[in-house]
Amino acid sequence: MSEPARRRRLHIKTYGCQMNVYDSERMADVLRPLGYEAVDAPDDADLVVLNTCHIRERAAEKVYSELGRLKEIRAERLAAGGARSTIVVAGCVAQAQGAEIMARQPAVDLVVGPQAYHRLPELIARAHRATEGRGGERLAADFAPQAKFDALAGPLAADRAPTGPTAFLTVQEGCDKFCSFCVVPYTRGAEWSRPVAQVVAEAEQLAARGVREVTLLGQNVNAYDGQDDGEGGEDGAPSTLARLARRLAGVPGLARIRYTTSHPRDMTPDLIAAHRDVDALMPYLHLPVQSGSDRVLRAMNRGHKAADYVALVERIRAARPDIALSGDFIVGFPGETEAEFAATLALVEAVNYASAFSFKYSPRPGTPAAALPGQVDEAVKAERLARLNALLEAQRAAFAAGLVGRTLPVLLEKPGRHPGQVIGRSPYLQAVWVEGPASLIGEIAPVRIEQAGPNSLTGVLVAEAAAPRRVPEPA
Ligand code: 5AD
Ligand code: SF4
Repeated sequence: MSEPARRRRLHIKTYGCQMNVYDSERMADVLRPLGYEAVDAPDDADLVVLNTCHIRERAAEKVYSELGRLKEIRAERLAAGGARSTIVVAGCVAQAQGAEIMARQPAVDLVVGPQAYHRLPELIARAHRATEGRGGERLAADFAPQAKFDALAGPLAADRAPTGPTAFLTVQEGCDKFCSFCVVPYTRGAEWSRPVAQVVAEAEQLAARGVREVTLLGQNVNAYDGQDDGEGGEDGAPSTLARLARRLAGVPGLARIRYTTSHPRDMTPDLIAAHRDVDALMPYLHLPVQSGSDRVLRAMNRGHKAADYVALVERIRAARPDIALSGDFIVGFPGETEAEFAATLALVEAVNYASAFSFKYSPRPGTPAAALPGQVDEAVKAERLARLNALLEAQRAAFAAGLVGRTLPVLLEKPGRHPGQVIGRSPYLQAVWVEGPASLIGEIAPVRIEQAGPNSLTGVLVAEAAAPRRVPEPA
């Protein structure tokens, strides 16, 4: 029998999108067999991982300032007689600026890009050797998603950290769309989909551990074309997201499926039909449009016009009338005029969103838009963002208010603020506060919505679900 691994403390700080959240969990999984246990603060961690995001402005600056803080914490630990902590930079900033990070902040022991996480134990050991002056790799930023997922899908998958009733599941990585403002095609590489069998196996493992809802993740998740395994009557052609959703709907225990983020160009008829036919597919769709101006959409290299998007939304709503739509918007793209911004407001009026994310354009070094003339003044961007947000917020509030008085199936997810309260999720991805016992966590219960607040709904369990399950009387 092998020796139990020495206990070590791991702190992972995660920035950015849900894919980073998923990746951070997988990093914790590969490190757990080495004795690493998660801790909340970097101060008493033996290993600190910054899982960085590169999409926002000054992302790299935030990483450097956090690294400065970690360096100080390390010095204090050493001065107090503690062991030297190991500092790792992971994620998209690591991928994009690995060599620069190593040069600018020598306190960093290892820089690791998103495709090398399965090699973390080995890379950390090599980095330790390098730190001790014995030579070794300290930078791993190659693109090989297949190797990563094959490794992570192995025996480790069964050893995953405990999870609640909801979980993320990465099915696709990378992006070939090259929107002119975006760094993702450079930091996450080309589009690549995990094979169906691997995704189904991971979903089955999650369901066996009590997960009721999975959110399928991908930078372009609806471009999913994973290799099919020929089971279930498929013809051996690459799968589609719709086919994958139908397949996952058959996994025992799994009641809800979501996916994010989608590109309008990949919103195929079979995926729209799945929203009509597959009950497990939740009526919520994050479908970024970015702008309502055709001139701006062209300059963004989005590959669709505003009217295409509005028509697409109509087809989706015809299939699933209650679908809650969400979007991403960028204001102040280079050259954006007031009339072009007004076209975005008009598109928002036409579509009517249940939720949204809006951003001021920020030039990302290395992307084509950063070099465009006509960069918009900050004050103009801020003013446009405020107007857009006011409209989006009014639409969100109206959507939520429209649910008051209705009974929704709510997946109860975790304890609330006080005993006797639980928090769940509506089909439309809203948080719902409910009075009820913690024993309901993991159940999908009917909840009558009583109030709609700025960030959540409040509701009451309707009688059938609140009553204890009756044991049948012996005949
Ligand atoms: N400036 C502003 N917003 C951006 N996004 C991506 N790149 C930029 C940028 N350079 C936004 C887009 C995308 C979301 C994840 O972030 O709206 O959909
Ligand atoms: Fe970035 Fe566009 Fe790809 Fe989305 S579709 S990740 S915005 S390049």
